[in-house]
Amino acid sequence: MKQTKRLPLRSFFLLCAHVILFMEKAESGSVNGSANVLSLDAVRDTLIRLEDTIVFSLIERAKYPINSAMYNESAGLVAGHHGSFIKFFVKRTEALHAQAGRYGSEEENAFFPGSLSCSLVSSRPSTNVLHPVAKIVNLNKDIWDMYINQLLPLITAGGDDGNYALAAAADLACLQAISRRIHYGKFVAEVKFLDDSPEYTRLIRARVCITS
Ligand SMILES: *[C@@H]1O[C@H](CO)[C@@H](O)[C@H](O)[C@H]1NC(C)=O
Ligand SMILES: *[C@@H]1O[C@H](CO)[C@@H](O)[C@H](O)[C@H]1NC(C)=O
Repeated sequence: MKQTKRLPLRSFFLLCAHVILFMEKAESGSVNGSANVLSLDAVRDTLIRLEDTIVFSLIERAKYPINSAMYNESAGLVAGHHGSFIKFFVKRTEALHAQAGRYGSEEENAFFPGSLSCSLVSSRPSTNVLHPVAKIVNLNKDIWDMYINQLLPLITAGGDDGNYALAAAADLACLQAISRRIHYGKFVAEVKFLDDSPEYTRLIRARVCITS
């Protein structure tokens, strides 16, 4: 599931629509054998909640103007740091969260997974629901480009109020909310798979691409 192109806004909403579609299809079947690991009700509730979170986080970001300098790689806003203010903010935040063990969770996907250190916190062994290969599906590069270049100009007014830290914190909340919602599709796919493992196993072995 490697994507190199930028994700246009339309595709982003299509992706969301697909996730909803997946969910409805899964709902029409009976999910058995999976009740103790992944419940369809729980997946549905989570999807609804994640959508609400996206809307509220966008409202919070819209309180500030676009503050374009934050996204400018050569604006030099952070002493001793090359790159944009927003990248500085997100990378440093993710580094801290990684050390606290956040990305040990299957539901979490970092925007800069390459620059994370290991968790410093000993955690209990978690019961994983997804196939291990799900970990490598990370669409955050596309989500980042779509958010900064397309969504942000739509939801913010022009101008610059200098509130960079607050606006960046609001950006990160939006990015994480969108990312969680999109990547939750992995759980939806798992529900579908568990619903009819023999058939999906056959399709996977035959390398059939399911697009809807
Ligand atoms: C589904 O699971 C329940 C409880 O484990 C079991 O009683 C039932 O027979 C299962 N149904 C199917 C179609 O496998
Ligand atoms: C980014 O910042 C540099 C340095 O201040 C400036 O010259 C350039 O015009 C800015 N780029 C944009 C797209 O605003």
